[in-house]
Amino acid sequence: MIKTRIVSTGSYLPENRLTNFDLEKIVDTSAEWIVERTGIHERRIGTKDEAASDLAYEASKIALKKAGLKAKDLDMIICATVSGDLPFPSTACLLQNRLDAVNAASFDVSAACSGFIYGLYLADNLIKVGARKRILLIGVDMLSRVTDWDDRSTCIIFGDGAGAVILEPSKDESGIMSTDIRSDGSMWDYIQVPGGGSRTPFSKECLDKKLQFVRMKGNETYKVAVKTLESIALETLEKNNIKASQLSLLIPHQANIRIIQATAKRLGLPMEKVMVNIEKYGNTSSASIPIALDEALTSGRIRKGDYILLEAFGAGLTWGSSLIRW
Ligand code: UT7
Repeated sequence: MIKTRIVSTGSYLPENRLTNFDLEKIVDTSAEWIVERTGIHERRIGTKDEAASDLAYEASKIALKKAGLKAKDLDMIICATVSGDLPFPSTACLLQNRLDAVNAASFDVSAACSGFIYGLYLADNLIKVGARKRILLIGVDMLSRVTDWDDRSTCIIFGDGAGAVILEPSKDESGIMSTDIRSDGSMWDYIQVPGGGSRTPFSKECLDKKLQFVRMKGNETYKVAVKTLESIALETLEKNNIKASQLSLLIPHQANIRIIQATAKRLGLPMEKVMVNIEKYGNTSSASIPIALDEALTSGRIRKGDYILLEAFGAGLTWGSSLIRW
């Protein structure tokens, strides 16, 4: 069966840096606590003029340029985001307009930090069955927009960013070997934005109670993440008859350095084989994997023939992993 390959990547991070020392001045925290408990030193925060589609546009332009393609060559745009420009229409449609990608059917995917893996699952299968030939997949989030800057348990974690990939049918053995996605809605309230939807529409009361901001049961989420990431990674590897020791690189969602280290340890992977950039960008939600993939490629950490595993975990709860032969 034909495989889907990633033809090119691009990423974009807003210029504005928010360091742990800046956060010390905003909430009751310390730079030391943040580094020790999360691995984050700083994160990027979009300016008030930047929205998700702007970040996605910059990342997409780079991916298109690297692939030597024009936007009209795309036949689909999938945007993984939970912090799009507007409740509707989709950020993918806004991006389509901005790029002038006239031939692309465009829609968003909502799976929070797992959104990119969910999008990859969709794009891969659509290409494999021959329904689409060239898909632009973007992970973009600006969780700074739903951050309560008085809540020290969440405001230290998130950052804004976007990563893009272009997918096409592969001409050889390289490409996505398989992607697994899962969810467990019984833990829907572990990470949520309670207000602004049809359950609790925006109102003065909603704003007074700060329901427009993200709430997270961090510790409970952490425990589920470590367990599920190991099991789904092993499932994807076993399905393809590949051992963890054969992986050249693990590219995990950058949620917390301790989750990344625990997963690597459970898989028996040394940290040299794990892509980490959480110290620079924090948790950029659905953007973290495509940004890390773009950086891994740019810095020469991926070579033709390498086995690469991507894995993510997020609100929903959702999780997934994808094995790629480069
Ligand atoms: O990306 C989507 C998925 N999300 C995740 O995977 C997030 C998973 N969770 C985490 O990364 C971690 O749970 C956090 C980084 C959010 C929190 O770290 P933790 O080690 O689980 O801390 P905790 O919530 O158990 O809190 C321990 C203590 C508490 O104080 P007491 O009750 O022991 O006195 C907190 O109040 O740390 C306190 N604390 C802080 N102290 C200083 C919480 N946040 C801070 C802070 N600065 N920013």
